[in-house]
Order: sequence, then C-alpha cells, then structure tokens
Amino acid sequence: MYSNSGNQTPLVEVRNMKISQEIVDAINDQINFELYSAFIYLSMGTWLEEQNLGGMAHWMEVQYQEEFAHAMRFYRHLTERGARVTLKTIEGPKTDWASAHDVFADAYHHELLVTARIYKIGDVADKLGDRSTQSMLTWFYNEQTEEEANTMGIRDKLKLIGNSIPALLQLDAQLGTRPPAPPIPAESTDP
Ligand code: FEO
Repeated sequence: MYSNSGNQTPLVEVRNMKISQEIVDAINDQINFELYSAFIYLSMGTWLEEQNLGGMAHWMEVQYQEEFAHAMRFYRHLTERGARVTLKTIEGPKTDWASAHDVFADAYHHELLVTARIYKIGDVADKLGDRSTQSMLTWFYNEQTEEEANTMGIRDKLKLIGNSIPALLQLDAQLGTRPPAPPIPAESTDP
C-alpha cells in the first residue's frame, strides 16, 4: 500500500497499475448491490411462480442471471486492475407483492436506483480522471437504459391489462420466451 501525497484518495497497491481506493470501495459496494438485485429478481420469480405466472417467473430467472453477470463484470474490473474484491452480507429481499403489476413496478424503481448508483460511480471516476473505469461503465450506461425500458414497458402493459385474465396469460406466455442470459463476461469490457 502506498499513497500519492497531494491527491485526496490513496492509491491501492496493484499489479503494475494504479486504482483509487475510492473507486475500489464504490465498485465493491456495487458488486454487493448487483448480487442483491439478483436476489430481488429471484424472489420476484418465486412469487410469480406461486401465482401460476410461469412465463413471468422465467423472465425473472433470466434477470437474476443477468444481475449475477453484472456483478461479475464489476468483479472482473477490480481483479483486472489488481484490486481485491470484498464480498459483503447480502440483505434479504422483499418476498411478497399484491399483484404482478406491483412486482414489475418495484423492478422498474429498483432499476432507477441502480442507474443512479452507477452514475455516482461515474462521477467518482470523472473526478479522479479514471478513464479505465469510465470506459467499463459505458456498457452499464447502455444496459441501464435497456433495463429501465424493459421493466417500465412490462409494468405499463400490466396496468393496461388490469383484471383481464386472458390478456395477463397472453403477456405471461410472451415473457416466457425471453432468451437465456448471455454468458458471464470473461473481461469487464466484453460487449
Ligand atoms: Fe444490474 Fe438491473 O441492473
């Protein structure tokens, strides 16, 4: 461990690279939050399964896998730069909802929170001139746009559907066709 006197944040000892402890801490927190996100979506999945909405449950299982892949993308970024990943306790997720609409409304609001957190990491990277982290985050900025749009779109369809069981089952069947999540990225900047 050494410090770059004059700068505000110490630099962590790395394998021939430098990374600020402030970025390491922020990304470690985000790894935890992505894993928490995975737990939330799996919890939503089991609730939907219980309501006989197997297609929506499948959608959530795929989302669970995507969140795990997001955590691993941040994990790779730290390990590629020689920093240590510190795993933390994951909070238990919510387990009950009033309707499928409420599940996807929660999912949309959760994604807004994720986006805000990732923007904050970007702000720290900007402040420190950490171009490597900025480059890695570009993938997440695009991903968050997609995740917000997906969850908001499903929520809004469920609002239109209201109490129509046939329409609900039609949407459930459609969401059951969601393709599997892409493989865990081998590198933090994989497309
Ligand atoms: Fe990892 Fe859904 O954001």
